[in-house]
Amino acid sequence: MMLGFADIFFGGTACLPAQNKPVSALPAAEKLNEQEMRGEGLFLQRCSLCHLPRKLKFGSPPVIGPSLSGQFKDSTPDQQKILRGFILKGGPDMPGFQYGLEPKELEDLIAFLKTL
Ligand code: HEC
Repeated sequence: MMLGFADIFFGGTACLPAQNKPVSALPAAEKLNEQEMRGEGLFLQRCSLCHLPRKLKFGSPPVIGPSLSGQFKDSTPDQQKILRGFILKGGPDMPGFQYGLEPKELEDLIAFLKTL
C-alpha cells in the first residue's frame, strides 16, 4: 500500500498525461447519494487537513497523509477491513478515530471514501 511521490503530491493517476479524461469524468464529479454526502462532510472536517493535496489549503500540518483516491474502491474486502482498522487505530503520524467517530459515522465516511 505504499504510494509513490507522485501519488501523494499530485493526487494519483488523475494527473497522468496518458489519461486525458475531461474533468467531469473524474469520480469526484459523480453524484453522491445521501450517505456518501454525509461521509464527504465528515471527510472534509476530520481528514482533509492531511489527506487533500497541500496546495488546496492553508495551515497544513507538517506531516501529510497519502492520497486516498482509489484506496477503498480498488481494494478487496480484506484490505478494506485493514484500512478501516487503520482509521480507528491511527498510525505513527495519524491520530486514531476510535473515540472520535460514531460507528454510523464511520460507515458514512467509508461509503464516501469508496467514491474517491
Ligand atoms: C494529522 C494528519 C491526519 C489526519 C487528520 C488523518 N490522517 Fe489518515 N494518514 C495520515 C498519515 C501521515 C498517514 C500515513 C501513515 C502514518 O504515517 O501514520 C495516514 C494514513 C491513512 C490511511 C492508510 C493509507 C494507506 O495507504 O495505508 C487511511 C485509510 C487514512 N489515513 C484515512 C484517514 C481518514 C478516513 C481520516 C479522517 C477520519 C484521516 N485519515 C485523518 C495523516 C492523517
